[in-house]
Amino acid sequence: MEVYSEKQQIIAVIDALRAKQKTLGLVPTMGALHEGHLALVKTALENNDKVVVSIFVNPTQFDSKEDLIKYPRTLENDIKLLEGLSEDRILVYAPTVEDVYGEEAISEHFDYDGLEFEMEGKFRTGHFDGVGTIVKRLFEIVKPEQAYFGEKDFQQLQIIKKLVEKHRIPVKIIGCDIYREPSGLAMSSRNVRLKPAYKEAAPFIFKTLKLAKQYFGTKSANEVMQWVEKQFAKHELLKLEYFIIADAETLKTVKRKSKTKMHRAFIAVYADDIRLIDNIALN
Ligand code: PAJ
Repeated sequence: MEVYSEKQQIIAVIDALRAKQKTLGLVPTMGALHEGHLALVKTALENNDKVVVSIFVNPTQFDSKEDLIKYPRTLENDIKLLEGLSEDRILVYAPTVEDVYGEEAISEHFDYDGLEFEMEGKFRTGHFDGVGTIVKRLFEIVKPEQAYFGEKDFQQLQIIKKLVEKHRIPVKIIGCDIYREPSGLAMSSRNVRLKPAYKEAAPFIFKTLKLAKQYFGTKSANEVMQWVEKQFAKHELLKLEYFIIADAETLKTVKRKSKTKMHRAFIAVYADDIRLIDNIALN
């Protein structure tokens, strides 16, 4: 497995691949890889000669210092998992903070036409500026033809599409399905930090999303939102931060159902001090 910690090294390797007309896919991650990440890498391997997997816990997208410190870092194991997918077609870029940011890790400010003010943007100040900063830099370093993002972070996926459109970055953004544990819990690097009782409780999130989807067939968006709030108010361990039914494109809360627009339900829940997000397509 080729692992690079300095951008100059990987840029040289990428330039050589480009000279040989090789196609390149990019899968940006923060490591602590699980099956959800690996599914993105597998899709990327199917469609490109080589795949760059970046592993970088990006400090500028964390709104809580504690969350940044506690974020799992398992580089050796991550490399083993990637080796299981391909010995010679994956390049890992696992830089230091200095390699990416120089002396001071600060983010650029981005205008995503309002997408950044919805949901996660309301609860995680500066988060999408941090995400935009790192992803744009990765695009500049790797110059991939295609880049892969999970629908698990649906708002992030929409924001990256907007970033690429506004900055005219020549890369195709591919969205991939949410990968779940057998219990229905969406896979996340944060799941390893769940204490047993919370791990057992957490599948309630997806169970509720599925019921919400069912109720959305006959009830209004508002009624479904109130119903979900009630379910969590009764729950002993899980604390609801938000549940929203939104237009899948603008991410604005749906007031009236539309037959022509795609609707999606989005949820953020605290299990102890661990924040879990999930979403489901409603039509
Ligand atoms: P991270 O949380 O490590 O996720 C990396 C990619 O894997 C994202 O595109 C995310 O949506 C996808 N992913 C995570 N869990 C998934 C699941 N259960 N099913 C499908 N895809 C899943 O998202 C980030 O890192 C960062 O914000 C990043 C884009 C790397 C920028 O720092």
